[in-house]
Amino acid sequence: MPGYPALPEGIAYGGDYYPEQWPREVQEEDVRLMREAGVTLVSLGIFAWVLLEPAEGRYEFGWLDEIIDRLHAAGIAVNLGTPTATPPPWFSRKYPDSVPVTREGVRIGLGSRESACSSHPAFLAATSALVTRLADRYGDHPAVVMWHVHNEYGAPLGECYCAASVTAWRDWLRLAHESLDTLNDAWGTTFWGQRYGDWDEIDAPRWSHTVVNPAQRLDYARFSNDAHLSHYRLQRDLLRGTGKPVTTNFAGTVNCKSMDLWRWAPELDVIANDHYLDGERRDNHIHLAMSADLSRSLAGGGPWMIMEHSTGAVSWQPRGIAKRPGEMRRNSLAHVARGSDAVMFFQWRASRFGAEKFHSAMVPHAGTDSQIWRDVVALGSDLRELAEVRGSRVAAEVAIVWDWESYWALELEWRPSGDLTFLDRISAFYETLWRTHVTTDFVHPSADISGYRVVVAPSSYLLTEASAKNLQRYVESGGNLVVSYFSGIVNEHDTVHPGAHPGVLRDLLGLSIEEFHPLREHETVTLSGGATARVWSERVRLTGARSVQTFTTGPDAGHPAATVNELGAGSAWYLATAPLDGLRDLLTPILDRAAVARPQDLPDTLEYVRRDRHVFLINHADTPATVPGLTGTDVLTRTPFNGEVPAGAVTVVRLS
Ligand code: GAL
Repeated sequence: MPGYPALPEGIAYGGDYYPEQWPREVQEEDVRLMREAGVTLVSLGIFAWVLLEPAEGRYEFGWLDEIIDRLHAAGIAVNLGTPTATPPPWFSRKYPDSVPVTREGVRIGLGSRESACSSHPAFLAATSALVTRLADRYGDHPAVVMWHVHNEYGAPLGECYCAASVTAWRDWLRLAHESLDTLNDAWGTTFWGQRYGDWDEIDAPRWSHTVVNPAQRLDYARFSNDAHLSHYRLQRDLLRGTGKPVTTNFAGTVNCKSMDLWRWAPELDVIANDHYLDGERRDNHIHLAMSADLSRSLAGGGPWMIMEHSTGAVSWQPRGIAKRPGEMRRNSLAHVARGSDAVMFFQWRASRFGAEKFHSAMVPHAGTDSQIWRDVVALGSDLRELAEVRGSRVAAEVAIVWDWESYWALELEWRPSGDLTFLDRISAFYETLWRTHVTTDFVHPSADISGYRVVVAPSSYLLTEASAKNLQRYVESGGNLVVSYFSGIVNEHDTVHPGAHPGVLRDLLGLSIEEFHPLREHETVTLSGGATARVWSERVRLTGARSVQTFTTGPDAGHPAATVNELGAGSAWYLATAPLDGLRDLLTPILDRAAVARPQDLPDTLEYVRRDRHVFLINHADTPATVPGLTGTDVLTRTPFNGEVPAGAVTVVRLS
């Protein structure tokens, strides 16, 4: 990560800071409180375009100069935002056709954010003009240590259907497909008589009264990703000249469906993720871990930054659930455990006005005589103790295949079952591994996976021939692959691979599927190992694999439900349904066979992550956890580790 050392020492601590919402006295108090809490880094300017350029070509940087200087004097570094997520009202008025249009054909209203289309020429020109000035003015400022481009590309604006988008889309198609003939073949336009005779006949896949060509939609998702990525690159290239790292905050690696983050990751100097708990879920710390592991995987296993999370409630869910005692600390340190070299929040001080005034902050409305503030100060002190962790890596022996293109394709209309959701399927495996204390990386199916002992592909509906070959090579040379149902079905254009399912995985798995038998909404089936399963059943024909469990009820009773194919030096496992329970029993023999290292005899509510020579132990239960056989120093208390993690606590052990 070029330039990463420019960041403050240790684990960076802070959050989004919007001083423009406050009078000078409060700003001065802010700096004093930041020092008290041990804040080292704040993100500034993210939505401040109209304050920096109140009228086209008229710039006012004085207020920002003053704030940056004040922070600098206090030793606080700045992650300077480019405010392109909120184009000024004058811009939208002058260029009304830059305002995004939804798939349903509605031009969005103003007064919110993300109100310009990433493909609109005037928006690109205005972006360049402003960012050039920001780079010139602040590029050398010693307080500015990194750049934060835009805000959460893809959320809420994923696809835009305005006229500028359609023009850019046709250009994109010309590059992506050699000719109209190749496009027609790739999209299968013979179906429903859609054959195109001219590029200008091709529209965006707008809402229609029934299903629009899925291949067209898939390409539009790719195009939309690339349109935002080009807008990012435009800015990144203008900022790179300053020699400081450039990033953009991902809108939740796990949640941001609209952006293919494998394509973004190489374009960023530092991977930055935003993560918010689903307040309704008791096990939301597992979702957090998954988001963090995906962030680290995007960072190639190296350090990354949690750029936003919350001290307490968010304001955009049906209920703003406050965090339980100790939860904010557990959340923050879980990100660090999984490779983050920063702990950043949205936001520093709770806003009095605007859409997010009921969102928690580091300084809540209740002020400093509050539990949140005391926790914020205590966290700052923990992070100082953890400075030695910075830069270290988390090693994983197991990986889960994650491909945004498969995510997009799987969730288009008219699949054999509406219950085939990508995240549910990945989460089931992730959660089982988490509870088994196995740290997991995420990988693209075409990546080099040779270093993993086990690779799990729970939801690889779209799988190219090349990726399938990659998986096959992995197994032949000794890897252990676990595939679950409805994988390897279509190619990159949502065309079914020839022959019986699972087309490109038939040889690798040693089986074929005669017929799908998706289950009714609440229907369940049982397996010979005792597990109950839902969603899916199918008729598996063995062509080399052997059955390890059969269905005992349902449409495929007596036929294989779980199989293994010994291939070359490795093994390829297949699971033809979605166990409600019992996934752990299915995975354990595979992890054992592959000799995946994991601590034994720990409660499944204890999060265990090893980051180089530090072991993070995060106790999510209301009772203490005993950790046998681990010796070293408790870094946070600077005492020898006594083998116990109190209820709700976090212990970081430096191994002796
Ligand atoms: C993020 C966004 C922030 C803020 C936050 C509230 O998605 O980047 O600006 O809105 O959510 O949770």
